[in-house]
Amino acid sequence: MKTIVISLGGSIVASDGLNTDFMGKLAKSLEKMDRKIKFGIVVGGGSVARSYISALRKYGVNDNILDEIGINATRMNALALASFFEDANSRIPTTVNDAVEMSRIYRFTIMGGTEPGHTTDTVSALLAERNNSDILINATSVDGVYTSDPRKEKKARKIDALGYDESLVLSMKGLSGAGSNVFMDPTALNIAKRSKIKIFVINGLDIDEYKNVIEKGETTGSVIR
Ligand code: UTP
Repeated sequence: MKTIVISLGGSIVASDGLNTDFMGKLAKSLEKMDRKIKFGIVVGGGSVARSYISALRKYGVNDNILDEIGINATRMNALALASFFEDANSRIPTTVNDAVEMSRIYRFTIMGGTEPGHTTDTVSALLAERNNSDILINATSVDGVYTSDPRKEKKARKIDALGYDESLVLSMKGLSGAGSNVFMDPTALNIAKRSKIKIFVINGLDIDEYKNVIEKGETTGSVIR
């Protein structure tokens, strides 16, 4: 039995309100896939996390508390997504260990963040590493890895395939821009690098992309290896 881990960006499930339509479609599509595959889905915080964090940051609230608020948002989104699956957990695991235990029972294990100091990208990389997964799907609101932020720079160019080190340079470069939103955080990339987990960065809203990656190992996004 192999496990495929998906890092589902918060902006995909909760951008302007909860994207329930998308959640229903994703569940239907993944449920149709080979039953020998188990899924670990790590959901981001999206607009809920962002709006709470930015509102409280103005009042000087401690970063550790802000992270806890973000974690709660990710878990709320995870529980919302889990309700669309027939065979998924209804209690959200709070650690990777807990998620691995739960995956013995369910075909779909859905979780959010774990502890302050990182993002759900890192949680997904840890979960993939723990499950000996050879691939990790990073479902984002951008359709791949770009030379710079395509939402800000017209000359940004998509990179079809890149090495871990190149992806780390781009991720670090993105982090230095204030308020920037990088395709994947460097901690997650380092975990993937040490365990040679191939990362597919895909347009998370395109349901066919999940199927293409899982069944054919192909994407119109980017591959990091
Ligand atoms: P996300 O993983 O969604 O953060 O977690 P993000 O990458 O900034 O946002 P998107 O999904 O790409 O839009 C939301 C927030 O929750 C906290 C962090 O503050 C993070 O920014 N968090 C999340 C943690 O502290 N620990 C976790 O394990 C996960």
